[in-house]
Amino acid sequence: MTDFLTLAEDIAREAGDMLLAKRPSNPEVVQTKSSPTDVVTALDRASEELIRARVRQARPDDMILGEEGGDTPGTSGVRWVVDPIDGTVNFLYGLPEWAVSIAVEVDGEIVAGVVNVAPRGELFSASLGGGAVLHKDGLALSRLRCNSGVPLGQALVATGFGYDATRRAVQGSVVSAVLPAVRDIRRGGSCAIDLCSVAAGRVDAYYERGINYWDYAAAGLIAREAGARLGGLNGKGPSSEFTLCAAQGLFEELHDLLVPLGPERDS
Ligand code: IPD
Ligand code: CA
Ligand code: CA
Ligand code: CA
Repeated sequence: MTDFLTLAEDIAREAGDMLLAKRPSNPEVVQTKSSPTDVVTALDRASEELIRARVRQARPDDMILGEEGGDTPGTSGVRWVVDPIDGTVNFLYGLPEWAVSIAVEVDGEIVAGVVNVAPRGELFSASLGGGAVLHKDGLALSRLRCNSGVPLGQALVATGFGYDATRRAVQGSVVSAVLPAVRDIRRGGSCAIDLCSVAAGRVDAYYERGINYWDYAAAGLIAREAGARLGGLNGKGPSSEFTLCAAQGLFEELHDLLVPLGPERDS
């Protein structure tokens, strides 16, 4: 497990360094996906290619799932889940809120997760059962613990919005009902950083409709290892349908506020 974590950390650092070194002042958009605002830059692809090459070099029989390159089969029972840039829109605009996210699964269970917030010199990592750690400028700084005992009315809640305009209308109506019930809302633009912020106590909770597995695979482990609960609505697990993360008590309060709002509906 430690070996997976070290390898994932090394690869995430290398990808982050490459992105910092090569980010031009106006990154080139090479593709749009679900909508004209759902963009891919040349460096999203370059980062994923670098990560894939390093994984293949070290562990040629592993599977890889990446946002830009899809599924690569393998025979070892180990799968790498990669978001080469989480927060592409921030990256595009030069906002320092993007990360390289890498998780390692063994037989379907995530055992290691790394989120390298390269523009801030912060790297979050966790191994299953081994706790979550924040590294600053290469040094292991602190063990992470999420905030606990925060009542809903005092909670700082991070959320995000997908690229689909119809879903955004629903997300807007949900957020307008949540806003008066909490301390405030944050929309940082990276699911992985939002979940690491729960782990580090920089926000109290996070929820979002429509994220993908590569968005939350690594950071979800980091948040859980920091004591947070990661799940969906009505007893479901975290998924694209809906994902919620907070310490147990706040998870329940936010869950009960959200369920009647139907935040997982499409229109
Ligand atoms: C996006 C970010 C964003 C979230 C979107 C994601 P991308 O990922 O995590 O915060 O709100 O749902 O798709 O496209 O920047 O990798
Ligand atoms: Ca993402
Ligand atoms: Ca991405
Ligand atoms: Ca994307």
